[in-house]
Amino acid sequence: MTLLNNDVAHTLAEHLRAGTTEMSSTDLRVPISHFVSDERAAQERRLLTELPVIIGHGSEIAAPGSFMTREILGIPLITVRRSDGTVGSYLNICRHRGGRVEDESCGKKRIFTCHYHGWSYSREDGSLRGVPYDDFYTHVDKDRHSLRQVRTEERHGFLFAVLSGGQDWDADEWLGPEVDAQLAPYGLDGAEIFLDESFTLDINWKLVLDGAIDVLHPKFLHPEGVGKLIETNTSVWRQYGRHGQSFSPRTRMGDMARAGEPVDADFRLMGSNLFLYPNSMVISTPDHVEFWTVWPDTTTPHRSTTQIRFLVRPEKRTERIEKRVLRSWEILQDAAVNEDWPMELTIQRNAAAWPHGTYLYGRNEQSCQHLHRQLAADLGD
Ligand code: FES
Ligand SMILES: [Fe+2]
Repeated sequence: MTLLNNDVAHTLAEHLRAGTTEMSSTDLRVPISHFVSDERAAQERRLLTELPVIIGHGSEIAAPGSFMTREILGIPLITVRRSDGTVGSYLNICRHRGGRVEDESCGKKRIFTCHYHGWSYSREDGSLRGVPYDDFYTHVDKDRHSLRQVRTEERHGFLFAVLSGGQDWDADEWLGPEVDAQLAPYGLDGAEIFLDESFTLDINWKLVLDGAIDVLHPKFLHPEGVGKLIETNTSVWRQYGRHGQSFSPRTRMGDMARAGEPVDADFRLMGSNLFLYPNSMVISTPDHVEFWTVWPDTTTPHRSTTQIRFLVRPEKRTERIEKRVLRSWEILQDAAVNEDWPMELTIQRNAAAWPHGTYLYGRNEQSCQHLHRQLAADLGD
């Protein structure tokens, strides 16, 4: 398994020796209003419902017949594992008069029955199966009252869906060969959720992502923690279509490179952060994969929910690995809860207090630049 290729390692080592980093050709200025404007937030939410986003992980509905219900960007979904192993999602909205059909957050069912007047729908295709007292309706055409489908595709265990119900997308095309090649070696389709935590914060979703992919802050904001483990302001960015990946050296690689020692790609020397546009990222380690998704709030630009999941392949799950994974959760939590998010909270408040002008993303901040450039391109700015 080598995803950290030697080219990247050698480029990082050269930068470390020279005290430089990879850079894009220009700075980027992003209007501060983009973090506080209701209108902008509405545009972004609409965009996110039109793009393939990750709505869950296949292991949450591993067994045929299992389902989960979720509300994502305000859209209620029932996501099921069909008998043939494929995954489907339906709007959790009854075709009679709009009741929520399934209340349980997960379980196993063949038929979903609405509690209001008992209309029932098939797990396999959402088709309407039963209408109590159907003699009393003038006519209910069963074929035209299926639950509305939201096509869902599983890749590397991640469940992708276009929430608006748009059909014109292809999961392989969306991910592209480079992302595919990065994810494939981890066997995430066989991984399970080791830990799943959600945090609703009074911070715009883009600021949370900015903080999570930023390579310029570790030693300043996390002097006693992450800043001691990861070099600040040396990174390599690889763009994969709408997605991309930043590679960062650990301080140990920095010490070795600066001492003139040869360095190769090795998880002990460098790490990577794979950004899956628009709102997810995957940080891989030999033991586990850290998987983030940040959802804008459905009503305000000033709030978002960050879901962090750790994925582990079951055969790797030994006591020793569990301890190591929990330790890395502690480090992450320390950095995020005590340092990153409080800083981002001040930015959100400051943006509300002074929404004029722009924020600056330097040439050395390629990962953050990419997020804002891609959003601007998709929103037609
Ligand atoms: S609203 Fe669902 S059966 Fe009437
Ligand atoms: Fe941080």
